[in-house]
Amino acid sequence: MRVALAYSGGLDTSVAIRWLQVKYGYDVVTVTVDVGQGDDLKAIEEKAKVIGAVKHYTIDAREEFARDYVMPCIKANGLYEGKYPLATALARPLIASKVVDVARKEGTDVLAHGCTGKGNDQVRFDITMRALMPSCTIIAPIRDMNMTRDVEIEFARREGIEVSSEAKRYSIDQNLWGRAIEGGDLESADREPDADAFRWVNVDPKLLPDDAGYMHIEFDHGVPVAIDDVRADGDGRSSIVEMIEYANEKAGRYGVGIIDHIEDRVVGIKSREVYEAPAALTIIEAHKELEKLVLTSHQLRFKQMVEQQWSMLVYSGLWLEPLRADLDRFIDSTQEYVSGKVTVKMYKGAFRVVARSSTYSLYDEGLATYSKGSTFDQSLARGFVELWGLQSIVANRVRSIQIHPHPSPHSNPHPYHQDRLAKGVDGVSMHG
Ligand code: ARG
Repeated sequence: MRVALAYSGGLDTSVAIRWLQVKYGYDVVTVTVDVGQGDDLKAIEEKAKVIGAVKHYTIDAREEFARDYVMPCIKANGLYEGKYPLATALARPLIASKVVDVARKEGTDVLAHGCTGKGNDQVRFDITMRALMPSCTIIAPIRDMNMTRDVEIEFARREGIEVSSEAKRYSIDQNLWGRAIEGGDLESADREPDADAFRWVNVDPKLLPDDAGYMHIEFDHGVPVAIDDVRADGDGRSSIVEMIEYANEKAGRYGVGIIDHIEDRVVGIKSREVYEAPAALTIIEAHKELEKLVLTSHQLRFKQMVEQQWSMLVYSGLWLEPLRADLDRFIDSTQEYVSGKVTVKMYKGAFRVVARSSTYSLYDEGLATYSKGSTFDQSLARGFVELWGLQSIVANRVRSIQIHPHPSPHSNPHPYHQDRLAKGVDGVSMHG
């Protein structure tokens, strides 16, 4: 009997090959999906075979990942808990769908992944796999056997499975959109990560450029189409994938892109998470800033709620939940005029947007200026302000009178009212 295993070449999935073979007696077909992790795919295939895979698939899904997963994330300003650009969360459903494809080709409905029972990835794999192949049986050996990393490393040693020195120190997951570093010393939330945790972002102060760097990002309908001279559709010379890789390299060189925060996992655990996501952070920030130029305040406020919901769904493994598609329709509608240019300035790890422009800009210098040439009629403001504050002013008047004659012995008036009471406001003195 065959099993299709999502295989990354890392510790968990390597242990899983052998385990599926010896404990379950399966013929293991391994599936490695290239989502821009930058690993040596040939070496991964060889490793799978050495450990015992009967067949191996390498699937290049970089374009698909960039186009169908990363671009929607940019339009949604997808940041879970305001911080995490969802790199791993976005790639999991794509990987799961490719494993399902392979299983169909191989005539099996037994699927496997290397996730532990403590993380979010099991949620993403299980739900996507079941949604696409309802009849499937899912085996997750690390979760099923309740294995810890130490036990896995020991198992690998006994079984002659190669474990990299980095894998002994950290658990890494990376793709085009970001790199997640977990485990080891990083689990001490009160301790700064060691420099060796970082690969994409320059953390050595001596190596950071002395001059500021600039990234010019051009957006069309909410997605980046060019960053500096690298175009998403560069007539075969460059692609959306290369454009994002370019942004990762450049922002990372300026020390930009590290995230270090406490994250709430789906399974209830709070975890300390460290990421490198130079392209994601700069592109999303630029996109947000462009939206602020071209969308109305009403659109912006409502979209923020949608973004939070979108990020939560994606984070928690519900990529295939119909609500996500509904939200994407709304988001796409908002992106109709999100076209223009944004400049991001980067300097020694810090970055900010310093310029933005669009044909659809709602920013009107004539209205905003404090200098001569203003087209804004200030005389209209007086009446507006009165109406805008009407209820707040009335509420304050009513409440200060009401609490006044019969002050409750139990209530402690708000300091604001205490002050008014002491002074005897509104013509009524403290003692009536
Ligand atoms: N906390 C992140 C997430 O849930 C990163 C997960 C990284 N996975 C890993 N196997 N190291 O998306």
